[in-house]
Amino acid sequence: MAYNLKNRNFVKELDFTPTEMKFLLDLSSSLKTAKYTGTEQAQLSGKNIALLFEKTSTRTRAAFEVAAYDQGAHVTYFDPSGSQMGHKESIADTARVLGRMYDAIEYRGKNQSDMEDLATHAGVPVYNGLTDEWHPTQMLADFLTMHESSRKPYTDISYAFIGDLRFNMARSHIVMAALMGSDLRLAGPSQLAPPADVVAIAETIAAKTGASITFTDDVEAAVDGVDFVHTDVWVSMGESKDVWTERIKELKPYQISTRLMNATGNRDVKFMHCLPGFHDTNTVVGSQIMEHTNMPDGIEVTHDVFESDASIVFDQAENRLHTIKAVMVATLA
Ligand code: CP
Ligand code: NVA
Repeated sequence: MAYNLKNRNFVKELDFTPTEMKFLLDLSSSLKTAKYTGTEQAQLSGKNIALLFEKTSTRTRAAFEVAAYDQGAHVTYFDPSGSQMGHKESIADTARVLGRMYDAIEYRGKNQSDMEDLATHAGVPVYNGLTDEWHPTQMLADFLTMHESSRKPYTDISYAFIGDLRFNMARSHIVMAALMGSDLRLAGPSQLAPPADVVAIAETIAAKTGASITFTDDVEAAVDGVDFVHTDVWVSMGESKDVWTERIKELKPYQISTRLMNATGNRDVKFMHCLPGFHDTNTVVGSQIMEHTNMPDGIEVTHDVFESDASIVFDQAENRLHTIKAVMVATLA
């Protein structure tokens, strides 16, 4: 079934219904096959897309750029200090300027309210490349990856999200799992619990889709029997470095280790992470933290799990491309 999503925004998961999400995921698969078989057809020729980044990025920027080029579109990348927005020009004014020149705008920033402001004033589709509150394009990649890996319908997928439950990744998973009718178990310390309004939204949706969204501080209970174990960094972009010491104390029991993967009782369980992740000392931040915290095997995930056959993090990263392409094709072509 095809759905007309032309000119729609994607600033949060709730912008699309479950059937529209499934359409986007099916379209992602078709575009992936077309790229692999050399049969991709450029459907965005002559389109110009603005990529506004107020935080750093590897995957999201790369996915938007390559997806646009594959489809014949052009992009302009504005780096975290490369536009007037916020310093000398309001978001509403920037939106009205860019909307006169571009066919769509991707934005990565801190506040969801800025994203909504941009979408209100741009007059062209706006895509959320991550805010503190939501990471909706990542959700499409995560669900496509779980579907491809398990070959299960979305309603039969059972997975755990472990760690910081108050930030973008956990919040987005709570809403997305509800929309897709999946079984999501979240585990983390109570002081990093998800906000009540997000839980309430998910519960309302889950009552219609048959999803099961549960919360616990018992990490082993959360992973029992799941198909996938997900985590995210313990300190997100935009948070102060000063919170690391406290956060490590809070989240140390929630590290993804081989012992925890074994606790799933599922020999085929897979590990997922939106990345970037701290699993070795080959980054400036990772090495500083691992040295100061006496966690030589990794922070949110141990190096052996990250490098194990169960880890599908690079399939997940690649799927950012195919899913972001689907969003642009569906809303612009
Ligand atoms: N997962 C993700 O959004 O990665 P980047 O920060 O590299 O874009
Ligand atoms: N929670 C992380 C996700 C990175 C893709 C962050 O916001 O930094």
